[in-house]
Amino acid sequence: KNIGFIFDLDGVIVDTAGYHYLAWKKLADELGIPFDEEANEAFKGVSRKRCLQQLLEMGQLTVSKEQFDAWLISKNEDYLSYIEGMDSSEILPGVMKVLDYLKERDIPMALGSASKNARAILAKVGLTEYFDTVVDGKAVTKAKPDPEVFLIAAEELGADVKSCVVFEDALAGIEAANTAGMVSIGIGHPDILTEADYNFKDFTEIELAFIKELIQKL
Ligand code: BG6
Ligand code: MG
Repeated sequence: KNIGFIFDLDGVIVDTAGYHYLAWKKLADELGIPFDEEANEAFKGVSRKRCLQQLLEMGQLTVSKEQFDAWLISKNEDYLSYIEGMDSSEILPGVMKVLDYLKERDIPMALGSASKNARAILAKVGLTEYFDTVVDGKAVTKAKPDPEVFLIAAEELGADVKSCVVFEDALAGIEAANTAGMVSIGIGHPDILTEADYNFKDFTEIELAFIKELIQKL
């Protein structure tokens, strides 16, 4: 069997989910739309455009295409200002242990992210070399929970779809992995990720023995 390990980026490898939240929160405040971390859960794994649509729906606002695009740009500029100074210190705890374990064993690894900023972030934190392929927000036409991003990743890795593992912090991402028939690993609060095959609060909870067993079972 050809196995593959696929990682979401934001909120799994790096804590950029917090930066996305801050940037959306700033715009929401400007527009007078109530927005908190709970509401932000529905923005995780979701494309920039879809997030803005959701925000405007929450505020019951309809706007021109020009205004919509202008807000998309200002949200991203704000987000970019947060990620500008990122370096490897912002890789989430426990992640390197797992990435190194897989790399040492030549296990094919992919990034599967909805973000158009994914490659820039990988470069900033020095992880570009770890991934055999990067499938990002520029490569997909159908956003999570559609499985497209992970199916492309599997194909590019030459991996059998049912022998792929996906690490995700977003409900939409877990749904995408499950629909693809991949093994889904939820990173975050189990109440949010109830549909995942396995759940961990973060990577520090993942033992290498678990990864080893998983590989054997794929
Ligand atoms: C996902 C994030 O990884 O990327 C979402 O979980 C975000 O919150 C999406 O909206 C798109 O990101 P970007 O960087 O293209 O705006
Ligand atoms: Mg994520």
